[in-house]
Amino acid sequence: MSLIRCDDVSFSYTGKTVVSKVSFEVNQGDYLCIIGENGAGKSTLIKGILHLKKSSSGKIEYGDGLLANEIGYLPQQTISQKDFPANVKEVVMSGCLNKLKNHLFYTKECKEKVQENMELLGIADLSKKSYRELSGGQQQRVLLARALCASSKILLLDEPVTGLDPIIGVHMYELIRMFHDKKNMTIVMVTHDIPGALNEASHILHLNGEQKFFGLKEDYLKSEVSTNFLGGLAI
Ligand SMILES: Nc1ncnc2c1ncn2[C@@H]1O[C@H](COP(=O)(O)OP(=O)(O)O)[C@@H](O)[C@H]1O
Ligand SMILES: [Mg+2]
Repeated sequence: MSLIRCDDVSFSYTGKTVVSKVSFEVNQGDYLCIIGENGAGKSTLIKGILHLKKSSSGKIEYGDGLLANEIGYLPQQTISQKDFPANVKEVVMSGCLNKLKNHLFYTKECKEKVQENMELLGIADLSKKSYRELSGGQQQRVLLARALCASSKILLLDEPVTGLDPIIGVHMYELIRMFHDKKNMTIVMVTHDIPGALNEASHILHLNGEQKFFGLKEDYLKSEVSTNFLGGLAI
């Protein structure tokens, strides 16, 4: 079975449906990009997959032995999160919370993982620095390291490059690609950056309250949805 399978899933806030009847699946090794305009329901869907938001109807299933605590999540950045009062190591370490089980303290294994991921993402020397003092690109690398502490199987990334300087954004894509290609991780990424999505993804889910398209990127590019949505966008 797929790692994640959504069947006719809908979400609503105070009775108003914002995501209607979405169906798609994510298989091991996929790189799925979720695109759509602001307010299309992308973040809501991501929260639904993580069980942080309950669906109003439909079914979300995990398969292939995937457990809820084995999903690494990089949330969409908000102004208040950018001001989070903790140091870099503490933020990365919080990615291990799902693995604490009966332990009261972080395990040695967890501390090693934190160090390893900080080194991998080039933020080890920032370890004692306050998160709120970092640049946008550094903050996103901290959040990526945190997500990697939670999972070595699958990452759900909500707008990881939004607001970043284009060169820093390219570096972020390279890091994500490295985890996909070299570490066999499955990627689900929400993005506003359509050329970036079309460059990176194997699959596209296009949302606009309802599902406009789900399938292989090559098929998306041939679809009427992409022609209408992308218009004159140079890719
Ligand atoms: N906590 C919330 N309470 C009420 N409405 C919300 C809440 N979060 C999101 N919405 C609404 O749901 C819709 C989808 O939002 P969201 O999933 O954040 O879209 P996207 O990530 O595609 O920009 C929007 O109309 C938004 O205003
Ligand atoms: Mg969003």
